[in-house]
Amino acid sequence: MMASIAEATDLLGEAKRIAAGVDRIFEQALADRCDGRDRLCQAMRHAAIGGGKRLRPLLTVAASRLFGLDEERALRAGASIEAIHVYSLIHDDLPCMDDDDLRRGKPTVHKAFDEATAVLAGDCLHALAFELLADERTHEDPFVRCELVLALSNASGIDGMGGGQAMDLAAEGQSLDLQAITRLQQLKTGALIEYSVEAAVIMGRVAEEGRARYRGYARNVGLAFQIADDLLDHEGDEEAAGKKLHKDAEMGKATFVSLLGADRARQQATMLVDQAIEHLHGHGEEADLLRAIARYAVERDR
Ligand code: IPE
Ligand code: IPE
Ligand code: MG
Ligand code: MG
Ligand code: MG
Repeated sequence: MMASIAEATDLLGEAKRIAAGVDRIFEQALADRCDGRDRLCQAMRHAAIGGGKRLRPLLTVAASRLFGLDEERALRAGASIEAIHVYSLIHDDLPCMDDDDLRRGKPTVHKAFDEATAVLAGDCLHALAFELLADERTHEDPFVRCELVLALSNASGIDGMGGGQAMDLAAEGQSLDLQAITRLQQLKTGALIEYSVEAAVIMGRVAEEGRARYRGYARNVGLAFQIADDLLDHEGDEEAAGKKLHKDAEMGKATFVSLLGADRARQQATMLVDQAIEHLHGHGEEADLLRAIARYAVERDR
């Protein structure tokens, strides 16, 4: 992480604190089951606890500051998004998808355990996400909880991450235009990142007409974040990234980098970050963490 960003808002400190909160929630939910489920439980813990940047919960907590929300509630919503994200990574790494051996610097779940356990660990993390949201500790108002659940379903399913993963597979070896790649990435990665901000907006009971600017911020950050992932794959360091890189070109993946080349992709990402920050005008220092996250989304090395 760049020192300048970290200093400005203690992004690093906040990220660590929020990551610890997410770990605590997963520790509670994934206490050992000492029967025929112990292997499944260990696989879920292997994937969910103690790794990753925790960008999505960080976004939820940062956005919750705009509306003065209780941080523990924002963390629970953030952990639910992280549960969906981790499930998507477990399945993304399977031999039938990207066939990867390393994730977050550790063996992927199907390598450390086995394929059947990896499928089930993903399934059960998917369920855990909705269990966390539907619990009254996340919000006292059942209508708010219902809205959280509905929006996460949309962001995860065929009109969100799952649909985007299908488009990603279908596009292998194809040359998509900018509009088609943008659509693919918006579903594959953008939808969950957009939901990370939307969850706070829902809990803050922001009226519909006030939501557009936060959606604009999150949409731009989501796209910039995926461009950075594609750039990392193209030119990043595997040790820092904790996953195998230089695979997109080999697999014929349609990415911003394959279409625009690295330099123009980087310019595009920087422009998206500037636009994201622009959407926060009118907010004061309560939005500084969101601004720092937007910059970090493209300046990161992992
Ligand atoms: C990786 O996500 C896959 C994408 C959607 C780009 P992250 O880069 O957020 O991975 P972790 O959570 O830090 O491991
Ligand atoms: C995966 O995208 C996005 C998901 C929804 C899991 P990638 O396949 O590019 O993610 P990495 O590079 O393996 O982390
Ligand atoms: Mg993939
Ligand atoms: Mg992958
Ligand atoms: Mg990638």
